[in-house]
Amino acid sequence: MCGIIGIVGREPVAGHLVDSLKRLEYRGYDSAGVATLEPGGVLTRRRAEGKLRNLEARLAKEPLVGLVGIGHTRWATHGAPTESNAHPHATARVAIVHNGIIENFRELRDELIAAGQVFSSETDSEVVAQLVDHHLGAGLSPELAVAAALKRLKGAFALAFLFPADDDLVVGARRGSPLAVGWGDGEMYLGSDALALAPFTDRITYLEEGDWVAIRRGGAVIHDETDAVVARPLTVVSASAFQVDRGNYRHFMAKEIHEQPEVIGHTLARYIDLAAERIRLPATLPFDWAKLDRLTIVACGTAFYAGLTAKYWFEQFARLPVEIDVASEFRYREPPLADNGLALFVSQSGETADTLASLRYCKAHGLHTAAVVNVPTSTIAREAEIVFPTLAGPEIGVASTKAFTCQLVVMACLAIAAGKARGRLSEAEEHTLVRALGELPGLLARALKAEPKIERLARQIAKARDVIYLGRGSSFPIALEGALKLKEISYIHSEGYAAGELKHGPIALIDETMPVVVIAPHDRTYEKTVSNMQEVAARGGRIVLITCEKGAAEASVPTLETIVMPDMPPEIAPVVYAVPIQMLAYHTAVFMGTDVDQPRNLAKSVTVE
Ligand code: G6P
Repeated sequence: MCGIIGIVGREPVAGHLVDSLKRLEYRGYDSAGVATLEPGGVLTRRRAEGKLRNLEARLAKEPLVGLVGIGHTRWATHGAPTESNAHPHATARVAIVHNGIIENFRELRDELIAAGQVFSSETDSEVVAQLVDHHLGAGLSPELAVAAALKRLKGAFALAFLFPADDDLVVGARRGSPLAVGWGDGEMYLGSDALALAPFTDRITYLEEGDWVAIRRGGAVIHDETDAVVARPLTVVSASAFQVDRGNYRHFMAKEIHEQPEVIGHTLARYIDLAAERIRLPATLPFDWAKLDRLTIVACGTAFYAGLTAKYWFEQFARLPVEIDVASEFRYREPPLADNGLALFVSQSGETADTLASLRYCKAHGLHTAAVVNVPTSTIAREAEIVFPTLAGPEIGVASTKAFTCQLVVMACLAIAAGKARGRLSEAEEHTLVRALGELPGLLARALKAEPKIERLARQIAKARDVIYLGRGSSFPIALEGALKLKEISYIHSEGYAAGELKHGPIALIDETMPVVVIAPHDRTYEKTVSNMQEVAARGGRIVLITCEKGAAEASVPTLETIVMPDMPPEIAPVVYAVPIQMLAYHTAVFMGTDVDQPRNLAKSVTVE
């Protein structure tokens, strides 16, 4: 994971940059760096592999005295965590720090090399420095060069830029990854979150999606994605908020939904090497994918639905038989276990009592055990033979959102690794799937744009007594999760069904008062789901169709609303389609005035049976 800081100050900033980076250490990193403008406008960098103390040691030997600078902690994605791959990346005209993934870096790199730019690292990030440098070379001002570059970048990211030509300027941009502006007294700051800025100021402006900002000692000018100057509110952050910062959001759940492009990027960074288009797991695993006879997935609640989605991937990519159960059933039915089996436990908290008991049962019976867990210090993480962490960061809202999509992404990576090891996926297929995963942060950012439409729709859903969710294949678990989210926080009765099961019971419930949310990406079962929608429509049911552009164009059924997701490879659709169903539950609950972050009777971590 990466952290960003920028300061336009009145005294030397290098020490402050490092102090601030220390506050971002929790995000995880494997190299760090700072750049400042030294007297005479000389752009100077100090970078180091490993922990911040290495960077501090470097700075102690070779101090920097510049009054304006940027800093970064890097979690390696493209290229090893070496000093030359560490940020800031710089040319003679600009230095940049970057958090996130630039999806189209290959195309841009080829184009820029052809235009004469010379690259010095293997990272996707350097392409941003070279692109801005190219525009500066063509005579654009720093701000206009950034604005022009942003229009070419695909993916989800946050960026900060430093220019030798202007010692009163740092430019920042956000798309998918957060960035906040801090207001000081004759000094201005940029940071990944308010926590990073806490040593300097409690006056924060959170940039919105697509914004870019120029900070100077006298203040900040914020632009939206069309480059128009915009006003964004200034918030005074309370001291306690520096612990778990709700940002500009009304609820943690909203913040966590919106964090998904970023945390999925972080999680992917751990499990894929996007440059090599390969899955990257620890070199030694306690089990051999090729020798497994069966995978047993055990979890509760939302984590169970993540496991159910993963079943489709493990079966499709690896032809590995998967048994899945909720932990409270699994632990007491004393299931026979395969001799060459792996049991995988999925848990946000890592403390859920039934999941933990199931883990202990499997261990006692000599099964290999692995855990997909968000809290690395938790009991399940400690007791499993191997942990595959989700890097969702602290999840505060009781209804799980970002932990769910991170669980999906980790298990998709595991399923691809299993497919490769079992000879079921070719290298080319691995490349294609990894490329698709790499597009997720950008796709999630686009999915979030459906929010205004979903907010309007939520007013209708709030009037319903019951809601049915339908999906086929890997959209079936997303239907189950959609129904769970809605009932958890809005208290509206809702049920998820496999679309093909409609005729076996739930169709009896359909009348003109019943909203039916249909999750139907344009995949190989799309036509079948359309037939089910027709059956609903024929009985007066009010359809909410969540599909892609292609699906929307082909759907021939009247709907109450159609929520359109971008087109994407069907394998990754469950991750993206989780977002609209989360937003629908959230806005319905907000409209109904329930306690969204702490719904009645529910606990974030269920440590009793
Ligand atoms: C509770 C939470 C859910 C969560 C489930 C499993 O019910 O409210 O959001 O999905 O527990 O929790 P875990 O921490 O094991 O993922």
